Amino acid sequence: MISCDYDNVYSPSDDTYLLIDYFKQKIDEKYFDCINHNEIEYILDLGTGTGIIAIFLQLLKKQYSNFNPIIYASDILEEAIACAKENEEKNQINEEITFIRSDLFISFPESLKNSFNIIIFNPPYLPSSELINQSNNKKKIDYSWNGGLKGYEVLIRFLKHAKNYLSFKKPHIIYCITSSRTDLRELNKIISDLGYVNEIVEKRHIFFEDILLNKLSFKTN
Ligand SMILES: C[S@@+](CC[C@H](N)C(=O)[O-])C[C@H]1O[C@@H](n2cnc3c(N)ncnc32)[C@H](O)[C@@H]1O
Repeated sequence: MISCDYDNVYSPSDDTYLLIDYFKQKIDEKYFDCINHNEIEYILDLGTGTGIIAIFLQLLKKQYSNFNPIIYASDILEEAIACAKENEEKNQINEEITFIRSDLFISFPESLKNSFNIIIFNPPYLPSSELINQSNNKKKIDYSWNGGLKGYEVLIRFLKHAKNYLSFKKPHIIYCITSSRTDLRELNKIISDLGYVNEIVEKRHIFFEDILLNKLSFKTN
């Protein structure tokens, strides 16, 4: 059960469920999308919003005894962290998720570098205008959708730093959402130039756009 009493916090939507539905199909007693549960130590839900994805993963631990990672959830908004903590409690999880309020990785402790086997980011991914991006015109709820002038600037900033937080000793995957409302050819070229291999594993058509679920890994050699 997830609720949201905060106007500034993103309520779960089609993009959220694209991720959760994919995980429901791909997780079983032994594997998380081809990674053996024994190899997964740390998972991060970045831009957690209501906390729905982190809570979904935390609850899976009750279902699968071999699935036992430490779950982190972060967001730039204080209200999102408060909302996610309330939802954690409503789901009878006893402060097991570690929450970090942070603009991407800026406030993460050094100790979390090279740690995460799985990072999930449903980022703000829509293009915006110069006017909105002038800081005095930006509202908190804009963090939910405003990906920058081209729509993918937040995602690129994330990917530039994410590699420092991935575990390279064990398997690692980044799951993130992109939209056909941005220039996907341009975006995919930047993703590849940053050193990631990207596979589109799901796609959904919603009104005027396609939303895509991307599965990325970093080329270590
Ligand atoms: C599309 S919403 C997704 C929320 C939730 N994960 C879900 O799927 O329902 C994007 C989330 O990213 C957060 N966000 C935006 N920019 C961020 C940043 N620079 N650092 C951390 N979180 C950010 C927003 O506050 C918002 O909660």
